[in-house]
Amino acid sequence: MKITFAADHGGFELKKTLIEWLTKQNFEVHDSGNLIYDPQDDYPDYAIAACKNLVKGIADRAVIICGSGVGACVTANKIKGIRASVCHDSYSAHQGVEHDAMNVLCLGARIIGSELAKEIVSAFIGAAFIEEDRFIRRLNKIKELEK
Ligand code: RB5
Repeated sequence: MKITFAADHGGFELKKTLIEWLTKQNFEVHDSGNLIYDPQDDYPDYAIAACKNLVKGIADRAVIICGSGVGACVTANKIKGIRASVCHDSYSAHQGVEHDAMNVLCLGARIIGSELAKEIVSAFIGAAFIEEDRFIRRLNKIKELEK
């Protein structure tokens, strides 16, 4: 599984920490930016870059980080094919994938620490959508909205 990461200045350090941590575990990691720390940068630019890379197939999942996770999440959910949520607990991070086919995890670097973030990312990337009728039916209702 290839994971693309993105963050504005609010999430820059946490993105770096998570990329290094996953790389050491031999995960395929991609960086959608910002590649430099810029205190004036804007979260939509990086949330959009990561989500576009996901939709293009450059990655299978995305983790996008800003100060709260909220701005990145609001941005991501405007893009067709993206199902993003802020998850600051591990249950939501895996259930969101299993039941809702969440493909983008949004984190707030000003809310959670790096160790909890690692647990949440592990839950997210370790989960798979459960192909049960009820979950497929609900997902199709969401997909209808995108037409
Ligand atoms: C940037 O200072 C901050 O507003 C942004 O990272 C994020 O928290 C928005 O949701």
